[in-house]
Amino acid sequence: MSKPVRIAIADDEEKICELLETVLADEGYSVDTYSYSLECLSAIRSGDYDMLITDLKMPVMDGLDLAARARKVQPGLVVVVVTGYASVDSAVAALRAGFDDYIMKPLDIDELKEVVARALEARRLRKYNEQLIEQLRGANKELIRAKQHLSDQISAAQSNLDHTTSSLKQRVRELSILNDISKVVSSVLDLEKLLDVYIDLVRSKIGISRCSILLVDGSANELVVCAGDGENGKNLVGERTPVGLGVEGWVAENRIPVLIDDLAKDSRFKDKGSAKYESGSFICAPLIAKGELLGVIDLNGKSSGEKFTESDFKLLITIAAQVGVAIDNARLYRLLQENSFRTVQALATTLEAKDRYTHGHSARVTDYSVMVARRMNLPDVEIEKLRYAGQLHDVGKIGVDEAILRKPTGLTTREREAIQEHPVIGERIITPLDFLWEVKTIIRHHHERWDGRGYPDGLKEDHIPRLTQIIAVADAYDAMTSERPFRHARSSQDALRELKRCRGTQFAPDVLDEFLAAMTEGAPAVG
Ligand SMILES: [Fe+2]
Repeated sequence: MSKPVRIAIADDEEKICELLETVLADEGYSVDTYSYSLECLSAIRSGDYDMLITDLKMPVMDGLDLAARARKVQPGLVVVVVTGYASVDSAVAALRAGFDDYIMKPLDIDELKEVVARALEARRLRKYNEQLIEQLRGANKELIRAKQHLSDQISAAQSNLDHTTSSLKQRVRELSILNDISKVVSSVLDLEKLLDVYIDLVRSKIGISRCSILLVDGSANELVVCAGDGENGKNLVGERTPVGLGVEGWVAENRIPVLIDDLAKDSRFKDKGSAKYESGSFICAPLIAKGELLGVIDLNGKSSGEKFTESDFKLLITIAAQVGVAIDNARLYRLLQENSFRTVQALATTLEAKDRYTHGHSARVTDYSVMVARRMNLPDVEIEKLRYAGQLHDVGKIGVDEAILRKPTGLTTREREAIQEHPVIGERIITPLDFLWEVKTIIRHHHERWDGRGYPDGLKEDHIPRLTQIIAVADAYDAMTSERPFRHARSSQDALRELKRCRGTQFAPDVLDEFLAAMTEGAPAVG
């Protein structure tokens, strides 16, 4: 139940007070009447009134004065003045002074009710508006806070974005180099070539005036320059530096990469200011793989004449990690190559020991094949496969009856079929040797023909692996120019004519052309 509206009435006419009280109490208002304005003001000070209805003309303190003082006490107080006809001007003055309404004498009951209700409604709306304004102010403050927060976030995001963009650019630069490096690692397995390629990469990516890669010679506790570039870089190859001495020696000893602004002012290095350096600005990093120090990579002076930056330094550290792994891989690969080659040679020797007519055949086929592959500019890794394939292409003959292999007269169909199984048997023999997994395909197909009439699978044209096409030409030439149990060796000219006749039927045309050109220019020393 809501609190009734409290109204204070000030009028020196008792009858007016009674009338107002009766009418307004009847309307549900809580009404107090006062004959003296001071008494009324005192009541307003101590009470909680919603409305003051006051006569204008009163002794001691008139209605306007009372209304003004009451408003000071209660700013939200609704004030209605009661005035006679003669005082209309005063009533208008009261409204101008900010009071709410006025009632004319003689009193009209309906008008009285309407004025009171209207003034209270106006107060209610005014309060409601104030609440709305207050809420609006609060919302506005919240909005300003949110806007500031958003602005801070945008600013932070922009800063992050700038940082991310910068990091991204750096990362792209690194990835681009790593991509180039991985291409190198997969295509170059020779350690010396690998180091030269790395030096080229570093020069093109960072722009250096001198770069060198030094590897550890553990027996002498020294670093040996194995690759270099720049004005004096290449001349330094083969030079030795004791571990612990100079920039490279310090990095090797401490296994810590360094960025040096000015060598002359850096107290860490014993031979600072040495004439062999291009400038005082260095970046140098250790090459480490599996926890073992392999060497150092050293960059001295940029080609632009500027000093090395943090970005160059980070890049070198990234490159050094890759170089370390690549050197380790190349060394392992070299070891594997040596072991593998010994295994392959043992197999080939076993085969050729069975058949004196094929003695040296595998080695010659290998030499002819490598000769063609080099003319065709095939990469080192392909040539390595070719060496294995050449040595092993007929290894499947181990599984063919010796009597058939040595038969001096023509072969029966069954005997020919038995011999034609040797590519598949050869593939089966080397399958357990994982490192020859790419070679076994070459062996399986070395009797395929360009026109698809070969065996075992009848492959045609470019479906025959490229290296197999090479072996096929080399194999046919050496077979024709070798003694066989069933015929004498043909002359080289005769064999070359026969090969030419089979261009585009038995042999790949471009491979055959390279072979013929090479043989015309002078065959390699084989046998
Ligand atoms: Fe063969």
